Amino acid sequence: MKRILILVPMLLTLLPAAAQRNSFRPGEIWPDDKGVPINAHGGGILLHKGVYYWFGEHKTEGRAGNQAHVGVHCYSSRDLYNWKDEGIALQVSPDPTSEIADGCILERPKVIYNRKTRKFVMWFHLEPKGKGYMGAMVGIAQANRVTGPYTFIRSTRATPQMWPVNVEPYHKIPKTGEIWKDRANLSAGEHPDSVNTLGRDYLAGQHSRDMTLYVDDDGKAYHICSSESNSVIHIAELTEDYLDFSGKYVRAFIGDRMEAPAVFKKDGLYYFMGSECTGWRPNPAHSAVAPSIWGPWTQLGNPCVDADRETTYHSQSTFILPVAGKKDAFIYLGDRWKPENAIDGRYVWLPVEFEGGRFILRWRDEWNLSVFDR
Ligand code: GAL
Repeated sequence: MKRILILVPMLLTLLPAAAQRNSFRPGEIWPDDKGVPINAHGGGILLHKGVYYWFGEHKTEGRAGNQAHVGVHCYSSRDLYNWKDEGIALQVSPDPTSEIADGCILERPKVIYNRKTRKFVMWFHLEPKGKGYMGAMVGIAQANRVTGPYTFIRSTRATPQMWPVNVEPYHKIPKTGEIWKDRANLSAGEHPDSVNTLGRDYLAGQHSRDMTLYVDDDGKAYHICSSESNSVIHIAELTEDYLDFSGKYVRAFIGDRMEAPAVFKKDGLYYFMGSECTGWRPNPAHSAVAPSIWGPWTQLGNPCVDADRETTYHSQSTFILPVAGKKDAFIYLGDRWKPENAIDGRYVWLPVEFEGGRFILRWRDEWNLSVFDR
């Protein structure tokens, strides 16, 4: 017995430790601390007490993996290269009548920390099971611990029965007939105001499909989503507890048809990145800058500059992460989707560079945080 007690720890030291990573390799398989590929798609990162927490969609194999069968996966890291599996932060429900039933669509989860309530708040794009993408809702969940478990609170359309700060009188005149049909997308060339998508959804609440959250330096949080049949971005202030819409929101990029929103702030300016609307297929990214979260937003074009810029290097934006302790250091987080085998979707992380009043993304096969030590 004594011999075994001595031998076991000795043998353990001989086992190869999980190889420590010290670089990012965009598009390559990225194993977690157990050697399992990280499963956190459409994700976002929260920095809390010196630790980064990555939350994303846990995908499963095949086409069925495009629906949620597990929930939101959480990983933690201190260095951004090596990620520890923290398990499932929010589980889908086995109860088929639940709003987050196994088989619903649960995408782009984002978690923020509320200093006043000391709760972790998660928002995500939610489509009720079996309804395709016609629900266009958000789900809201909350937890006492960063890694969860998160308790689902409710689902809702965005800003129901609230008019944006830039509403026009004609939005309030109801339209009837064919134009009221709730279509997933507008026809080519159709302008949202010709259909009055805003007025259409005033009562039920505005569409919210691809979404992100942004917390400003003053603690105010915002929900930013692709709305009005994916033709307008809505930016909405949240209540103090981050669990609801405050009632103040703005329509931005009216008729520009963008999704996959990501927002960050540098030197007092707000930067926006989004994609075009081609489903899982990659397309050219768009970027913009504004002096305030409320706008006015000035478009800055496609931030990608190298070959494959027309596909955003085969990725779609999900988040832009400020790197702690480094000045002007931001990382672009994108998804390289694999709809035919959802679990095999990859992550494309690239450093954000600034050039001539805009931000740009260059392709890199491999890189590390020293690129920020200029
Ligand atoms: C993408 C969107 C993804 C997912 C997909 C479904 O455009 O960014 O989050 O919703 O469409 O086709």
